[in-house]
Amino acid sequence: MTPELAGYRRETSMDVLLADAPQHVPVELIRDLDIYAIQAIDPDIHTAWRKLQSESPALIYSRCNGGHWIPMRAHVIERVLSDSETFINGGAWVPPNPPDALPLIPIQSDGALHRAYRSLIMPYLVGKPLLRAVDSARTLAIALIDQIADQGACDFAVDFAQHLPIQVFLSLVDLPSTDRLYLAELAEVVRMPDEKVRMEAFGKMYAYVAGYVDERIANPGSDMISAIANGTIQGRPLTRDEIIGECTQVLVGGLDTVASMMGFIAAHLATNAPLRQRLCAEPHLIEKRVDEIIRRFGVAGPARQAVADVKIDGILIKSGDPIFVATALHGLDDSRWSDPMTIDLDRTASGPDYQTFGSGPHRCPGAALARSEIILFLEEWLKRIPDFSLVPAKPMVTASGSVNGVLSLPLEWQV
Ligand code: HEM
Repeated sequence: MTPELAGYRRETSMDVLLADAPQHVPVELIRDLDIYAIQAIDPDIHTAWRKLQSESPALIYSRCNGGHWIPMRAHVIERVLSDSETFINGGAWVPPNPPDALPLIPIQSDGALHRAYRSLIMPYLVGKPLLRAVDSARTLAIALIDQIADQGACDFAVDFAQHLPIQVFLSLVDLPSTDRLYLAELAEVVRMPDEKVRMEAFGKMYAYVAGYVDERIANPGSDMISAIANGTIQGRPLTRDEIIGECTQVLVGGLDTVASMMGFIAAHLATNAPLRQRLCAEPHLIEKRVDEIIRRFGVAGPARQAVADVKIDGILIKSGDPIFVATALHGLDDSRWSDPMTIDLDRTASGPDYQTFGSGPHRCPGAALARSEIILFLEEWLKRIPDFSLVPAKPMVTASGSVNGVLSLPLEWQV
């Protein structure tokens, strides 16, 4: 029996057929949780994840989307992410990408090759390039907020949050700001369960990136695309497919993740006056305690594949089994954090222990950048619009999938 809960499928639909569970999966661990159909609860998708977590065992198996495991508790998430020998990224995606799909790099690679790919992008996500990208995002944030502050209302997701990370990407790779709206449309790719639609969307992204790759091979600059396009790994130049796969990953990785996290934070602050007022009164807490805020709003859901038979909590995961890691569940686990749903600005233990940015060799290389974007958003927004609320007639629209997303967030305030 599947529980009557948002996110659980009660019947087989035509588009996402339920796979048979493999024989080694104990029947009591089967929950047909469709990661693309988690319904937010009032208005928070994290409340829905927390409810699913509290009613599930530590590890469950869903037959949706081709069939896969989902670690529901922090200790299982930590085990899977930290053991990159047993749980590889490979071509992992839920549902699986077709074998001939262009791999996203570095996320769908492992071992020494993965490290080599990563070394090409890391210099652009720290130090001066990071500061430049954050400066450019802050300038845009101030301009956007100044534009909307007098209006007394906005769709936070569309009018504000989606713009910032795209501007950051465009600054890192030295591309024109005019591409922003086109990229915002493509960002939805991370939540497309239908393989055909998803592959078409990725095709558009690859085509977008490919045009610039060719240009930067001919005329290299000092930006990230030029470095990837003209770089070498393990003593050889990258193939054109590898270059496009890596540039696309940097683009996909930073778009919807940052925008959605800002959306979840804004919605939470809109309904939580004491927290909002404290951040306004003590703005130094924004930078000091941003990790506690980030812990509460995990958004990314990376995939893994077991390459050996392994037991977790006595449960057999077999070689070949896919695993979907909802990082949000780590920050919501009450056996890991006391009172996890509360953002406690006096909590001292959030630090680097949280897994919103993952852990192990694939830990988000954009974490410092994303963290800075969240800080600058809070600093600049609360300075200019300290009091705001949800719009009861226009509820927030969220979505789930490889990223928990905020598609629309109407907000209003007094002018
Ligand atoms: C709030 C924002 C963000 C969140 C929550 C987030 C989360 C994550 C997580 C959990 C992973 C690990 C995936 C895995 O274990 O397979 C990851 C990987 C990655 N992220 Fe982020 N990310 C964010 C922002 C960014 C930004 C701003 C960038 C780039 C500008 C970025 C680029 C990447 C890349 C390239 C990877 C792949 C790393 C690898 O496979 O080694 N992310 N991210």
